[in-house]
Amino acid sequence: MTSQYIAAIDQGTTSSRCIIFDHEGRIVSVGQREHRQIFPQPGWVEHDASEIWDNVKIVVEEALDKGNITREQLAAVGITNQRETTVVWDRETGEPVHNAIVWQDTRTDDLIHELAGVVGQERFRERCGLPLATYFSGPKLRWLLDQVPGVRERAERGELLFGTMDTWIIWKLTGRHVTDVTNASRTMLMNLRTLDWDPFILDAMNVPRSMLPEIASSAEVYGEAHEFLKGVPVASALGDQHAALFGQTCFDPGDVKGTYGTGTFLVLNTGTEPVMSSNGLLTTLGYKIGDQDAVYALEGSIAVTGSLVQWIRDNLGLISSAAEIETLARTVEDNGGCYIVPAFSGLFAPHWRSDARGVISGLTGYVNKGHIARAVLEASAWQTREVVDAMRQDSGVDLSSLRVDGGMTADNLLMQILADVLDVEVVRPMVAETTCLGAAYAAGLAVGYWPNIDSLRANWHKAAEWAPKMEPEVRDREYHNWNKAVQRTLGWVE
Ligand code: G3P
Repeated sequence: MTSQYIAAIDQGTTSSRCIIFDHEGRIVSVGQREHRQIFPQPGWVEHDASEIWDNVKIVVEEALDKGNITREQLAAVGITNQRETTVVWDRETGEPVHNAIVWQDTRTDDLIHELAGVVGQERFRERCGLPLATYFSGPKLRWLLDQVPGVRERAERGELLFGTMDTWIIWKLTGRHVTDVTNASRTMLMNLRTLDWDPFILDAMNVPRSMLPEIASSAEVYGEAHEFLKGVPVASALGDQHAALFGQTCFDPGDVKGTYGTGTFLVLNTGTEPVMSSNGLLTTLGYKIGDQDAVYALEGSIAVTGSLVQWIRDNLGLISSAAEIETLARTVEDNGGCYIVPAFSGLFAPHWRSDARGVISGLTGYVNKGHIARAVLEASAWQTREVVDAMRQDSGVDLSSLRVDGGMTADNLLMQILADVLDVEVVRPMVAETTCLGAAYAAGLAVGYWPNIDSLRANWHKAAEWAPKMEPEVRDREYHNWNKAVQRTLGWVE
């Protein structure tokens, strides 16, 4: 039987999914399963990597079953994943030595200050493109080495392996210990120009090189899967935001996409040279296809957008499903003077302030739950505006439209607010599952299922667009108020 499909595994923050695509980039079937969010202390977030691996197996089987597809019909499988989340395991038994430390976790705050020392938060930026922040994997790995009894000794004896979730899954699938350049670029440990582990940073962070995976391109055959995908080539790995850039076919310098999930991540293709940011953005890898030149990107990462809607649902009980936030927000005309800055994990781009904590500002007796819902949606839009302003300043590119994707883009009111506050057109493609699509595209290129990236552009179709309608004076006034609310979050943690 000929290979007719490509499967993508998306190991995300809240769930793992498998989507099977056909040659036109259309979705054939989907499997999905949530995993536990473990909060051992305020500011700490963990996942059970073994539970995630079990879920990956289940969702792949589910997608195959639903599509009535056998593994022999898969030309390849690609991996995309929540980035930065850090796991260390025993190379013999495959047992993790500790729960995975999730990207949102802030336990490394003191370590970050120690590493910054007198040089400051920008100490490693020239090498790895990132400011020192709790977000990245390197400090999380250092925490595991220092704080979990026996881990440093075992790592130095060569018994333990480190990986982000791509590495964990590829190792489980193929037995090879490998990551791709996009995931490696989020560790703080990779040199952006050599695309190899940086000896200076490894030394400063006190991380043994022997536990780090090999760094490969984002699209090549890493190995053949065994177990439930026996014989299927594992042929791509990209961090989820890089995969979304690829799935949105943002292949030209100046192309930008925004993915609205748990957090929101704007990524701008800057071409084959890294552009250093002076405005709080991250310099990161866009993708690297086989032995072609690497493509770089500037990223604005926002920690909390969709997870604010979940918080309103789960912690406050104001709504019973995420979709209800739009209905509730539509019961009012505006925010009633209320602004929410959801600095639950500090503030990421462009502020990078781990001492920030969330605020609800401007409360009066007039404010009702509709206004709160509206402020929840506006928080995603204003945080995006801050990042887009930084992108304009760093790159000189004047954004004319924003390609969006992710679960929150089903919210039409949010899309209109976004167009209003950015003053640009917002465009949603037909296939909004661009993260999985990007991983599928990269895997398909690696095995010749698609001949080149030009053949992928033809698969991108616009589904909906929103044009700005807000008066400039209103936009300026609201941005001013938003900025005042942001100031109130800073310095909360002493
Ligand atoms: O950097 C974190 C990001 O990769 C997580 O994405 O969609 O799993 O929340 P998501």
